[in-house]
Amino acid sequence: AIQKQVGLGRSAERPSQAAGYGRVLCGLSGGVDSAVAAVLIHEAIGDALTCVFVDHGLLRQGEAEEVVSLFRDHNNIPLRHVQAQELFLTALEGVEDPEVKRKTIGRLFIEVFEAEAKKIAEDGRGAPQFLAQGTLYPDVIESVSFTGGPSVTIKSHHNVGGLPERMNMALVEPLRELFKDEVRALGRELGLPEAFVGRHPFPGPGLAIRCPGAVTREKLEILRKADAVYLDEIRKAGLYDEIWQAFAALLPVRSVGVMGDGRSYDYVLALRAVTSTDGMTADFYPFDMSFLGRAATRIVNEVKGVNRVVYDVTSKPPGTIEWE
Ligand code: XMP
Repeated sequence: AIQKQVGLGRSAERPSQAAGYGRVLCGLSGGVDSAVAAVLIHEAIGDALTCVFVDHGLLRQGEAEEVVSLFRDHNNIPLRHVQAQELFLTALEGVEDPEVKRKTIGRLFIEVFEAEAKKIAEDGRGAPQFLAQGTLYPDVIESVSFTGGPSVTIKSHHNVGGLPERMNMALVEPLRELFKDEVRALGRELGLPEAFVGRHPFPGPGLAIRCPGAVTREKLEILRKADAVYLDEIRKAGLYDEIWQAFAALLPVRSVGVMGDGRSYDYVLALRAVTSTDGMTADFYPFDMSFLGRAATRIVNEVKGVNRVVYDVTSKPPGTIEWE
């Protein structure tokens, strides 16, 4: 179906790029969906696919390196790694409203993507005519209406909305009818490593929406470290695969504590973990108190800037999975 959609019959005015297909651009987010979409499309049309990975400075610890090594080094898929941290973080300075954060990130994403598409076209193989996205069935539903409620937008999801129209590109969405578990099965079938296929979902706006209030480089650094310790404890306890999504959020609240002989006045970190089948509804994960105590002790001891840890026991609805 992918070969048929991007076959040259539809766009005879543009010359053949690779193996006779129109060129496809695919944005990689670092998550499972876009990765599976990219590998599937690469199987179908080879180097007519180019992937773009935009590092917006809002990724988790080690995430950019993992994506680059998986795609470029292991799967040999053409990948452009765009370092756009300064651009995004500068634009987000002082932005507190979650929707403004999402829109700012979405707008910049489109700008960076457009610029990359132009650069890609300069290699003489023609401009990409297709944009691939790892849209899943629940994304299609949730962007239309919200479970159990009126048809209102709860969060303006997904990073590249508006891009295809603006760039005059046709969409290729090979996962549009699949649920997450089916995408994971497909990823395994395509030979993606288990550790990648089993990854928890990560939102396009990244850590920006796990840092309520204005995002700063200092807060992101603290959040990255704390999140890594939390996930490390979850993996050590053998719980990672039982959980749909686990992450930390750095709250815009400082609390008083005692550190050694002195007083500390540092950030409060909220831990979140939920079970779910599609992200549309979710239950908080019932950790043992001993696990939570261990994670909290390690975080406060190892992460400078955090002196208090709380656990979020809200399910969805009425909460949402992310804090913003
Ligand atoms: P919520 O917070 O709405 O999240 O319960 C449901 C699922 O969607 C992810 N999420 C996003 N993904 N862009 C994304 O690509 C977004 O703006 C966004 N907001 C939430 C969230 O991580 C969870 O998996």
